Amino acid sequence: MQKILAWDWPVRIGHWLMVGGFILAWLTSESESLRLVHALAGATVMAVAVFRLVWGVIGTRTARFSDFVRRPAAVHTYLLGLLRLQPAHFTGHNPAGGWAILLLLGCALLAGASGWAIYNDLGGHWLEELHEGLASAMLLVVIVHLAGVFSGSVLHGENLVRAMLNGFKLGHREEAIPSARPLAAVALLLWTGATAWWLVR
Ligand code: HEM
Repeated sequence: MQKILAWDWPVRIGHWLMVGGFILAWLTSESESLRLVHALAGATVMAVAVFRLVWGVIGTRTARFSDFVRRPAAVHTYLLGLLRLQPAHFTGHNPAGGWAILLLLGCALLAGASGWAIYNDLGGHWLEELHEGLASAMLLVVIVHLAGVFSGSVLHGENLVRAMLNGFKLGHREEAIPSARPLAAVALLLWTGATAWWLVR
């Protein structure tokens, strides 16, 4: 195996926008004076998640849902390998990580939509409870996600965080994606900025 381009720019920029938005939304969640910052951070996470759904269909091979959403049997086999400390190596997302990603995107969309409704004085106390519950569920999945990233990095001797930054992972030459798709990343940034602004205006 050698270092090959595995993550395109939209995947990487979208990921770190979601991380930044998620952290900022948590830090500002209790503050009345930072309500706008909280709403902007949440809207950013939601806008990226919407883009990611589309990119999961039309994006590069490793970005596609068809590449990383696998049957429960594959998740089971992967987790058994992980328990034996010998997980199978994947150039894209592993089968367990793939489901964590779906959960994260689902939580991002639902937490964002409920937050937007609250911001616009829709719903009542129950919606606020639901929004907080979704945010807590998301935090739980993020913790599991981080445990998966850490264990995968250690057991494969591969820095997965660095890979999410520079796009390069270990793999066979024929598994490399042909382009990092910089123009699609510009579209992601324009979409996210415009949507987040429109949602909180
Ligand atoms: C500092 C905290 C985080 C770190 C270090 C981190 C790191 C990573 C890494 C290394 C991957 C690639 C995993 C692989 O190789 O299969 C990944 C994927 C992913 N992470 Fe995180 N993550 C963090 C927080 C988050 C948060 C807060 C969210 C959601 C709000 C999130 C959502 C995702 C998603 C959706 C993917 C899939 C990327 C894609 O295919 O678009 N991550 N993360």
